[in-house]
Amino acid sequence: MSTLRVLTGITTTGTPHLGNYVGAIRPAIRASQAAGTDSFYFLADYHALIKTDDPARIQRSTLEIAATWLAGGLDPERVTFYRQSDIPEIPELTWFLTCVTGKGILNRAHAYKAAVDRNAAAGDEPDNDVTAGLFMYPVLMGADILMFNAHKVPVGRDQVQHIEMARDMAQRFNHAYGAHFVLPEAAVEEDVALLPGLDGRKMSKSYDNTIPLFAPREQMKKLIAGIVTDSRGPGEPKDTEGSALFQIFQAFAEPSETAEFRRAFEGGISWADAKQALFERIDREVGPMRATYQRYIDDPASVERVLLAGAQKARRTASPFIATLRHAVGLRPLGTQAEKTKPAKAAKAAVPAFKQYREADGLFYFKLVDAGGALLLQSQGFASPREAGQAIAQLTREGAAGLTALAAQLASTAPGAAAALAQLAAPKADPGSVAGEEDPGAAVEPRA
Ligand code: TRP
Repeated sequence: MSTLRVLTGITTTGTPHLGNYVGAIRPAIRASQAAGTDSFYFLADYHALIKTDDPARIQRSTLEIAATWLAGGLDPERVTFYRQSDIPEIPELTWFLTCVTGKGILNRAHAYKAAVDRNAAAGDEPDNDVTAGLFMYPVLMGADILMFNAHKVPVGRDQVQHIEMARDMAQRFNHAYGAHFVLPEAAVEEDVALLPGLDGRKMSKSYDNTIPLFAPREQMKKLIAGIVTDSRGPGEPKDTEGSALFQIFQAFAEPSETAEFRRAFEGGISWADAKQALFERIDREVGPMRATYQRYIDDPASVERVLLAGAQKARRTASPFIATLRHAVGLRPLGTQAEKTKPAKAAKAAVPAFKQYREADGLFYFKLVDAGGALLLQSQGFASPREAGQAIAQLTREGAAGLTALAAQLASTAPGAAAALAQLAAPKADPGSVAGEEDPGAAVEPRA
């Protein structure tokens, strides 16, 4: 049975709350216990630098998140559990990916676009207060994922675009340098509860409505007492629908307990009693973990040891892989010159190409041929090499749309032409195959 490699990262900017636990931590720990999965979980502290400039907060959050996952039952022997900044191969891979990522793709990233839109709404410069780190966030995330050739990446819906971008980076890199990367897929847990917070909106640090997972018992009790309810008094039947209290209970309880709680609502349980029941139910699951959590928090060196051992384990994969990638892109010891057939060459040779030439009628033509030399597209004659070159540029840029736009200037188009143009549009499609032949005298060959 082949193993499925699952990987996810947690940005180290906050204190884990019940929503994180129910939505991400608990399902991830359970999934890591399944046979046939090789799980990678890491603390994304490089990503944290993009979100905060408070060093103490990053350090504290790293400790709290690591302690939470360990207390929650993550087995560092079974999975690979590490801190991103302990893996120097990741920033190196980030640069390799930066060099194959279209800037236009990053322009379209939701988080970046939202920042630009906010600036536009405020009448500011588009990139006002936008760091290059925010802009590059998806590339760093791509490196996290591709470094370990993860198949599945469990994330929230807001992160799906980033996984698609990582796929794109993998494709572009593979196209230029050979098949090094697996194309990752996002795994969005459909049946995981989105926990409401104290005010009924989604529990989120940005709404300031969270209940910290390991708040001391008394504080947890107080916070639960503050969950919004309606004003129905004791004895009055209560709606479970839309009740944050009920939904949180449900996220912790077995179906039979939930059914019983539902009956209590119908029977007019007082809000005070309902809150007490919720507190007890949460405490039943979280209470035993709290003591373990506290032990880790009181002994950060023990967490540090776990993370360093995890980094060592992760680097057993990352370090030989980055060596392969360095070689693939051409960062090589100079003594290895003997190797002439680099994969990049081979990849380029297998790519379709434009040929420009001049005919006896004095006009300038081009054609597109596939890797085997078969004709995919034949132009009409152009008055100048410049116009022919512009048409090629437009086709390369626009692909199928360009074929339609330029239909009048094309003598013939084979079915594979659009796909070939798409292939050329990927970066590293040898620019020489177009620009290098724009010189009219350079490639005069008979019309095919
Ligand atoms: N960006 C993710 C988040 O905010 C965290 C993250 C960083 C991540 N690197 C990752 C998630 C790699 C999955 C895979 O939730």
